[in-house]
Amino acid sequence: MARSAIINVMVQAAMKAGRSLARDFGEVQNLQVSLKGPGDYVSQADRKAEQIVHDELAKARPGYSFLMEESGTVAGDDPQHRWLVDPLDGTTNFLHGIPLFAVSIALERQGQLVAGVIYNPAMDELYTAERGGGAFLNDRRMRVAARSQMSDTVIGTGIPHLGRGHHGRALLDLRNVMGETSGIRRLGAAALDIAYVAAGRLDGFWEDDLKPWDTAAGILMVREAGGFVTDRDGKQNMFDTGSIICGNEAIHRSLLKLLQKTAPPA
Ligand code: IPD
Ligand code: CA
Ligand code: CA
Ligand code: CA
Repeated sequence: MARSAIINVMVQAAMKAGRSLARDFGEVQNLQVSLKGPGDYVSQADRKAEQIVHDELAKARPGYSFLMEESGTVAGDDPQHRWLVDPLDGTTNFLHGIPLFAVSIALERQGQLVAGVIYNPAMDELYTAERGGGAFLNDRRMRVAARSQMSDTVIGTGIPHLGRGHHGRALLDLRNVMGETSGIRRLGAAALDIAYVAAGRLDGFWEDDLKPWDTAAGILMVREAGGFVTDRDGKQNMFDTGSIICGNEAIHRSLLKLLQKTAPPA
């Protein structure tokens, strides 16, 4: 499979950061960890990986802007292009020795998602997608799962922890969905959850209060794998609202309906 120049740049950055994460994962008990808020951890591993991704991308495409989880916005002199970077998605898993974490990088051109790369170094799984060029897991083309009945599905989600709001809404959502599916999973890394939908491993996924760096690369992957992605209102405002619902056409529609039964938080 021939990869485009831009995907190669992103893969190189994600894999270099991923190797750094893998080394730190092996010595996780020695890492300096701090809290950004209740239940919200960051470590040297996140910061180191972010620096690597930033330096690799800036070297290859000088002038592009960045939106990164740990360093925020870095404005460039090219107004057309912006990188969205989560250097370590699944920090809590990582710090607990659970090998479900990833580097996530997306590229926007004139506000449109055009390329995405997600890399889980613990499993050596590389997810890539380019607008109009399909989505791949390593060298295999990805397609969303074909199941169309909710009763056959396994659905991923994310639920808030201490210090985050909307616990009541999350419980109502779970109640509305759990009785309809074969199972719900909370894997703990939103970028991977969404990549798993693109790969057909999860039939669908929903979560609220996510940030653009959590979802950007995955959104493109699901679209390129033939799936549907919207926010909770059925619109394309995933970055502004922080909510995401995805799956194949039928499962997306069913999930949207089930989740719209939950009244919005006061
Ligand atoms: C978190 C993970 C988690 C989701 C949280 C995110 P981080 O990202 O994706 O699954 O439920 O909302 O903040 O902090 O590990 O990069
Ligand atoms: Ca974080
Ligand atoms: Ca994240
Ligand atoms: Ca992160």
